Amino acid sequence: MLVTLQKIIQMAEEGNYCIPAFNVYNIETVMGIMEAAEERKAPVILQLYPRLVNQEVGFYIAPAVVAAAQRASVPVCLHLDHAAGKEEVYKSLRWGFTGIMQDGSALPYEENVALTRSAVEMCNTIGVGVEGELGHVGSVNDASMGDFTDPQEAAEFVKDTGVCCLAVLVGNAHGHYKKVPNLDIDRIRSIRQACGVPLVLHGGSGIPDEQVKAAIAAGIRKMNIGTDVCCAFAEGTKRTMDDPNRHLAVDVFMKEAIRTVKELALDKIELTGAAGKAV
Ligand code: 13P
Repeated sequence: MLVTLQKIIQMAEEGNYCIPAFNVYNIETVMGIMEAAEERKAPVILQLYPRLVNQEVGFYIAPAVVAAAQRASVPVCLHLDHAAGKEEVYKSLRWGFTGIMQDGSALPYEENVALTRSAVEMCNTIGVGVEGELGHVGSVNDASMGDFTDPQEAAEFVKDTGVCCLAVLVGNAHGHYKKVPNLDIDRIRSIRQACGVPLVLHGGSGIPDEQVKAAIAAGIRKMNIGTDVCCAFAEGTKRTMDDPNRHLAVDVFMKEAIRTVKELALDKIELTGAAGKAV
């Protein structure tokens, strides 16, 4: 069933686990993740980067995810990841997205508040919750990570914007980590206590399992996984390419890539504690 961001996050909050939020890029990645979610009876978030919404591909993928979610026996949220402006938010709502992230984290604090609050006002009128970000989660290629999220500022931000969950900078980054990350678990706990809303961990690919578990125990309720989805898809495709007996029909050709994405999703569903929670 298709559910809202606030509803699926609330489920995780009540059960003390975390919803895996997978970035999807094409129909095969959607298929692999949905198969895993059904098999493990897990609630999941499928999310699209705004570039996909702004390009033609979103026009094909978004309705497919909505249809898959409506048919699914498990709760599924279709979420817009990292919206920078209003255009992609309008478009996503029109396409039936049930969660929006408005990302003003690279802006000065007041501008981030204004942008995020206006998204909350608009989305809440149709019952869609908004994720905000405070403390800019950059790329692993950035020269420095920037200032980690401050708990008191996070409390102000949540009060000033009305977001239903908050993405935080606590030692995480997008992409393949160049060295093992070291999440600030105490800070996650302090932010959670101060701001009172569930927290979101971006850059979920490559964080060691023990740190993920500690982060969830401290208050992370949504973990984003993007790079690992791409790697799993590439690995499956490569295996097929390397097979001299491969079938050229594209649907058969894609089976191994769907399977490797499904394996990854099964793994993350177990890690986040979401398995068996779709009751
Ligand atoms: P990774 O690509 O590092 O997993 O990060 C994904 C993400 O946070 C999407 O917002």
